[in-house]
Amino acid sequence: MNATTATDTAAAPDGARPNLHTVLSLRGISKSFGAVAALTDIDLDVSSSEVVAIVGDNGAGKSTLVKVLSGVHAPDSGTIDFGGERVTLPTPMAALERGIATVFQDLALCDNLDVVQNLFLGRERRPFQLDEVGMEVRAWELLRQLSAKIPSVRIPIASLSGGQRQTVAIARSLLGDPKLIILDEPTAALGVAQTAEVLNLVERLRERGHGVILISHNMEDVKAVADRVVVLRLGRNNGEFRVGDVTTEEIISAITGATDNAVSRRRSRGDTASPTTHTITTEDAER
Ligand SMILES: Nc1ncnc2c1ncn2[C@@H]1O[C@H](COP(=O)(O)OP(=O)(O)OP(=O)(O)O)[C@@H](O)[C@H]1O
Ligand SMILES: [Mg+2]
Repeated sequence: MNATTATDTAAAPDGARPNLHTVLSLRGISKSFGAVAALTDIDLDVSSSEVVAIVGDNGAGKSTLVKVLSGVHAPDSGTIDFGGERVTLPTPMAALERGIATVFQDLALCDNLDVVQNLFLGRERRPFQLDEVGMEVRAWELLRQLSAKIPSVRIPIASLSGGQRQTVAIARSLLGDPKLIILDEPTAALGVAQTAEVLNLVERLRERGHGVILISHNMEDVKAVADRVVVLRLGRNNGEFRVGDVTTEEIISAITGATDNAVSRRRSRGDTASPTTHTITTEDAER
């Protein structure tokens, strides 16, 4: 196979994705809350123009991982490399300034304010003097980049659909031109058409070169839009797949523990002996 360089953005001849540069690289991230080990030894890589879905059962550690990446929780151990540098993310502002933008599930929009006001809330373009025209122009620019279907930027958020609100929240996350955008369950509350709209938007983000982490419970969404799927189970890595190479059943097996990741199992036991295959029983998986 032909070698591709880090700057090569042309389509690879065999249809494989070009070798894009790594934006985020986590190694050995652990986080406990008292006796609860929410994350243990998590590795994760995300490249530019790549959508990585993180899936896992309730309590698997997805939100905790998002919070580590968005500067809400400091990890107990492990390293975070971002944009080629070793970083710490002590506050949400620090994460934002580095170029990590998170759209949390509750979206944090103000219902009574209009689209422009929500987009620029807390970051009006000039201190003490709102540049209304400039903000409105920028709002349209952002929404156009996302091919968003918003009828007017001067209507209150309360009158938008769930999908349109998600769009506004994602547009807002783009204001600081982040390298990485994290979407926590962006389609959880949406109907079919709105889900399709948000998935289109995720594709726009990828086209524009952003790395995207998509937290989702919905395997159809994951299969439709992600390049890779990373499975968390009980706070550990439990499998990683290219979407084109995996069936929904295989992903679900990794989520439920019907197939455990041999590497993480061995690591968790501190087992460095030769790799022997361990057949997992259902009983074992439930543990
Ligand atoms: N602030 C906290 N204090 C104590 N325990 C916590 C805290 N946050 C998370 N946990 C625990 O850490 C584990 C992982 O939780 P997390 O919310 O990351 O899971 P999740 O994968 O996001 O689940 P869900 O799909 O239900 O949102 C759970 O056992 C949870 O109870
Ligand atoms: Mg969660």
